[in-house]
Amino acid sequence: MVFRITTERLILEDLNKKDLVHIQRIARDPGIMKYVLIWLENDEQVSTFLQHAIEETGLTDRMSYVLAARKKGSGEFAGLTFLEIDPELPSTGEVGVVLLPDYWANRYASEILLAYLEFGFGTLHLHRIFGKCDELNLPSARVMEHCGLTYEGTLREHVWLRDHWRSTRYYGILDSEFASLSR
Ligand SMILES: CC(C)(COP(=O)(O)OP(=O)(O)OC[C@H]1O[C@@H](n2cnc3c(N)ncnc32)[C@H](O)[C@@H]1OP(=O)(O)O)[C@@H](O)C(=O)NCCC(=O)NCCS
Repeated sequence: MVFRITTERLILEDLNKKDLVHIQRIARDPGIMKYVLIWLENDEQVSTFLQHAIEETGLTDRMSYVLAARKKGSGEFAGLTFLEIDPELPSTGEVGVVLLPDYWANRYASEILLAYLEFGFGTLHLHRIFGKCDELNLPSARVMEHCGLTYEGTLREHVWLRDHWRSTRYYGILDSEFASLSR
């Protein structure tokens, strides 16, 4: 069965083999990938990424939700999203969003992030959800702030990301904080 989360304007659902072209499109666009810490550097990495995401959909104790964002109605692919639980830290989830440029600056990422917070705390009963972004990625930081996540600190220049040393800003929110936001 295909896993789905519905938001106001989007459907987040399991990826399928037909999404290969969409992920390739993201991977080949340096403007989209500039601040994204996911290694999709060639077709082989893209295929492996998609294959892992599809394999995960069949698991009973699912720890990873890598979902396509599709426009409600048209079904048009809008981007890649994820909520992933580290098996070593099962009370914590990480969220992330990578949209196609046509979908930028329309508050879609906030809509997606809020849906994942609802799902992560409400259904999966997580205790903490975090997101991270390149310190140069101001839109991404803004989205996390909009959704009520707290800035927790910066890991300085810890990885070479294609053309620069990336410093990563961490943002987090706890179940109790989300509950008081939703009240
Ligand atoms: C980062 C990203 C997820 C933001 O999503 P979004 O839906 O465009 O975000 P929003 O529309 O809520 O915009 C958030 C803020 O960034 C601003 N913004 C969005 N896109 C922008 C752009 N291309 N240039 C400048 N500012 C931008 C918005 O105006 C808004 O600012 P405000 O809070 O002051 O009004 C999206 O731009 C994206 O997918 N980028 C490429 C991949 C990426 O970097 N993903 C994040 C990896 S951590």
